[in-house]
Amino acid sequence: MGLPRWVRKVMKGTIVDAFHQSWYESKTTWRGNTFLGHPIQQCPFDLQLYQELIFKQKPAWILQTGVFSGGSLVYFASLLDLIGAPASALVVGIDIELRPETKGISHPRIRMIEGSSVDADVVKQARGLLGPGAGLVVLDSDHSERHVRAELEVYHDLVQVGAYLVVEDTNVHGHPVFRKHGPGPLEATESFLRAHPEFEGDDAMWERNFFSFHQRGWLKRIR
Ligand SMILES: C[S@@+](CC[C@H](N)C(=O)[O-])C[C@H]1O[C@@H](n2cnc3c(N)ncnc32)[C@H](O)[C@@H]1O
Repeated sequence: MGLPRWVRKVMKGTIVDAFHQSWYESKTTWRGNTFLGHPIQQCPFDLQLYQELIFKQKPAWILQTGVFSGGSLVYFASLLDLIGAPASALVVGIDIELRPETKGISHPRIRMIEGSSVDADVVKQARGLLGPGAGLVVLDSDHSERHVRAELEVYHDLVQVGAYLVVEDTNVHGHPVFRKHGPGPLEATESFLRAHPEFEGDDAMWERNFFSFHQRGWLKRIR
């Protein structure tokens, strides 16, 4: 006879949280990962989810705020290449300070803008680069609640019905990592969802694999 269901549920929660914390705190996991040689600050479980989402959605463009070394931009652009997306499917990255190695990335789909993701001129430039059609928005810049909430207001209308907006790193501020961070992406997501019933969290997506750095941050526009 196996363990009672409630014991297994508690054990699963404890194991998932412990894995989450030890993975986040390790200096050799997400801080050391690369994609095709480019540092990429993502958990492989999330890269799997992006791969599924991009294959299923075939986004007309991808916008990411917070680029760092550009590994995610190269990852997204490579996936678009693999699924045979049209050349018009661009990957646009915004970072407040583009690193020299990031500026050196050359891929026909990738465009980069330097500046704050909520600066009016930067937003205008980004919107000018994105073509028509349903895209994918990924927020991974300043993780303070205030900034993420502002980004959500600025970019949510780009997301068409059925398309996704991903708020990254909802795990900080004790969910369950980096307790001292202060209110961040998860708090911004919760207040956004209260104000925008046209979006809902697609929790089944990440719960299937138990674990995502962006848990409760995979938002789908439903109307
Ligand atoms: C977590 S890193 C991004 C990691 C990257 N998305 C990846 O997957 O490898 C956060 C980035 O956000 C940038 N950043 C911080 N504040 C910003 C802002 N206000 N606007 C745009 N980018 C910002 C930082 O310079 C940093 O490169």
